[in-house]
Amino acid sequence: MTLQGKHILVTAGPTHEPIDPVRVIANRSSGRQGYAIAAAAAEAGARVTLVSGPVALKTPPGVSRVHVETAEQMADAVMASLPADVAILVAAVADWRVEPSGTKLKKGDGPPKLKFVATRDILAELGLNEQRPGLLIGFAAETERVVEHAIAKQTSKRADWIVANDVSGDVMGGHRNRVHLVTADGVEDWPETSKEEVARHLIARVEQVLG
Ligand code: CTP
Ligand code: CA
Repeated sequence: MTLQGKHILVTAGPTHEPIDPVRVIANRSSGRQGYAIAAAAAEAGARVTLVSGPVALKTPPGVSRVHVETAEQMADAVMASLPADVAILVAAVADWRVEPSGTKLKKGDGPPKLKFVATRDILAELGLNEQRPGLLIGFAAETERVVEHAIAKQTSKRADWIVANDVSGDVMGGHRNRVHLVTADGVEDWPETSKEEVARHLIARVEQVLG
């Protein structure tokens, strides 16, 4: 129970950006990796806030979950949950949203001309926040040049660590994950294992830093 007294903030799942009352833009994410991390942190004794987009998963024992839909709501919920000792941003946040139509678009009117607007980058905002968590951890799902892209994100978003995973296979929605941990000390290649095991490993590393 080495994380006793620590507050760990986790984001998980996708966000849904509405197009109209029945349609959304979303990223693929089951939420499993983020939920496993929240569960492992709670098992280690931390107070855990899990800000979750729409997923079909139960709240892990001892975790306080905040439900959100959109990137904007996720950003607001994360900022409202500060201060935190550690933030682990696992959510697959939609990068773009559109101005939603109040009424259902009709197929017969032809494909809509959607005007995309960038969403808030929660990790980058936390990196600059006055209440920046002492340990700020991001995830990076990549299909190519995995570690190179992860290192670029670590720098641009001012994250301490980036957990990079190769999603060129069938990781999305699956139970296993192969990740690389990018820290200031370099890159560690972790063996492919279950998402629960990745979560326990990551929380063990967090304990080493905070303990
Ligand atoms: N992230 C975030 N808010 C966003 C987009 C991403 O907090 N609006 C976080 C993710 O939760 C993750 C990290 O930033 O921890 C990297 O997300 P990723 O989608 O891999 O990076 P992007 O900067 O969005 O770049 P791209 O999708 O083009 O690779
Ligand atoms: Ca993205």
